Amino acid sequence: AAAEKDGHDWFMRKEIFEQPESVAAALLGRHTERGQLMLDEVRIDDEALRDIDRIIVVGCGTAAYAGQVAKYAIEHWTRIPVEVELAHEFRYRDPILTRNTLVVAISQSGETADTLMAIRHARAQRAKVLAICNTNGATIPRESDAVIYTHAGPEIGVASTKGFLTQMVACYLLGLYLAQLRGTKFGDEIAAVVRDLDRIPAQVQQVLDGAQQVYDLAQELLDAKVVLFLGRHAGYPVAMEGALKLKELAYIHAEGFAAGELKHGPIALIEPGLPVFCVVPPRGRDQLHDKMVSAIQEIRARGARTIVLAEAGDTTVADVADELIELPQVPVLLQPLVATVPLQLFACELATLMGHDVDQPRNLAKSVTVE
Ligand code: G6P
Repeated sequence: AAAEKDGHDWFMRKEIFEQPESVAAALLGRHTERGQLMLDEVRIDDEALRDIDRIIVVGCGTAAYAGQVAKYAIEHWTRIPVEVELAHEFRYRDPILTRNTLVVAISQSGETADTLMAIRHARAQRAKVLAICNTNGATIPRESDAVIYTHAGPEIGVASTKGFLTQMVACYLLGLYLAQLRGTKFGDEIAAVVRDLDRIPAQVQQVLDGAQQVYDLAQELLDAKVVLFLGRHAGYPVAMEGALKLKELAYIHAEGFAAGELKHGPIALIEPGLPVFCVVPPRGRDQLHDKMVSAIQEIRARGARTIVLAEAGDTTVADVADELIELPQVPVLLQPLVATVPLQLFACELATLMGHDVDQPRNLAKSVTVE
């Protein structure tokens, strides 16, 4: 009923608009006022967590993209090597695991069979397993050594939205917790990131307040047959998630690429009028941002229609953007939390305009409980 959807046409749209509260809920009670992390539910003792020498993040679909974002953040903060792998690939390739390996299993439902089989295999090899899950008491958290619940509230739309944002938040919290425990970051550095995280709910709200621009864009791109997404660094998984949303909901051939990889192949796909979403990293001291801007120049010179997501006040992108979607200013590692939102809105709106069932896309299930 419409009431359950809070006046929205779809559960998915309702869930997109709930994200400020979901992110706040995922952060609630997990740090002190001074920015010290508290993850009381993590049941692996601190001694064991200090001994971890490798992290492998597993998941499927959107959850695996949250894992890819986690890799950038956790490695940077903790200096522990992090690998990310699709759960079904991990399970059947005889991975090397020891008691000092931490396997982080990300699953909104906690029931995805591929992910469940992966953690069973990991535990049988004596690895520690920590679940990041949105469903209390689901099978995956029950079979794990520890759990961080995402507290996003029930997610009904098949395509994950608030599940994804809160999975990333849980990964950031885990990374900061490990950094605190192992002393790889000073307390004030950790507190600064915590302050940045606490600003995210209001910043996601800002992005949502600009939804109409994205909806107008969906109307303009209604006839698109192919849509590409480009990103770098933490923006690369965002590009892949943007593409996945379009495949899932609009049944459009969409692909996300690492911008640096363009010249090694994908640039051959660029033809006049092809829509390309480009996630621009914040301006920083490194060259990430500038390299992304030159990649956009390259594709625009070949006729691509560029839809550029860049932080507000970034004047360097004005010349290369056919359409500019402004993002709030956040550090590069946290940018996925704001940059994903316009891509969710775009896919939801485009699919709606095309007349598709957004909450129940063809051929998909919310939770895939068979391998
Ligand atoms: C299904 C859903 C996807 C989801 C994936 C992982 O394929 O259609 O939207 O990302 O499962 O689900 P999980 O519950 O494990 O996060």
